[in-house]
Amino acid sequence: MRVLSLAAAALLALCGASTGAADREPDVIYVPTPQSVVEDMLRLADVKKGDVLYDLGSGDGRIPVTAARKYGVRAVGIDIDSQRIREARHNAKKSGVTRLVSFRQQDLFETDLREATVVTLYLLPDLNLKLRPRLLEQLRPGTRIVSHQFGMGDWKPAKTLETGSATVYLWIVPPRKAARS
Ligand SMILES: C[S@@+](CC[C@H](N)C(=O)[O-])C[C@H]1O[C@@H](n2cnc3c(N)ncnc32)[C@H](O)[C@@H]1O
Repeated sequence: MRVLSLAAAALLALCGASTGAADREPDVIYVPTPQSVVEDMLRLADVKKGDVLYDLGSGDGRIPVTAARKYGVRAVGIDIDSQRIREARHNAKKSGVTRLVSFRQQDLFETDLREATVVTLYLLPDLNLKLRPRLLEQLRPGTRIVSHQFGMGDWKPAKTLETGSATVYLWIVPPRKAARS
């Protein structure tokens, strides 16, 4: 059901009028990851002290906020929608993690990802694929990438977790000399 609604949203976004780079339509609508799946994603990524987590398309900020609250890590949420950024900042404040968490209104395809050690995604299959070269170019070897529900084309995940309602995938960025595409 959620997959269908995300696919429909992508279609709507494609059909919608472009509003330019600065405040263009999101590539996918906001559908929150259930909190239990957020916890699964962070566990699969093996988040630990010292990590810096980036959630690309961060919605109401639940993934960065949970990472900071449960694991004490620094976390950054990126969303193109100003309303989502406002909600996320409110939620970070409510959870008392503003010291660790920040939210930026940005296009995730233009965000500098180099400091991330964990990247979380809940986008769409074609968006994951479009993002893949940037992930491989900017992220350091060993960085963990976790995606709720959608894969990354022919890049096979290191681990897959089937929860009751969702699938979560984990990839590890390979050493630089290995083939990267
Ligand atoms: C399916 S929601 C996922 C929200 C959150 N990560 C979660 O799992 O609960 C996707 C989010 O991506 C945002 N988004 C879509 N296109 C974007 C883009 N090009 N740059 C940044 N954010 C984008 C949407 O505004 C939406 O909040």
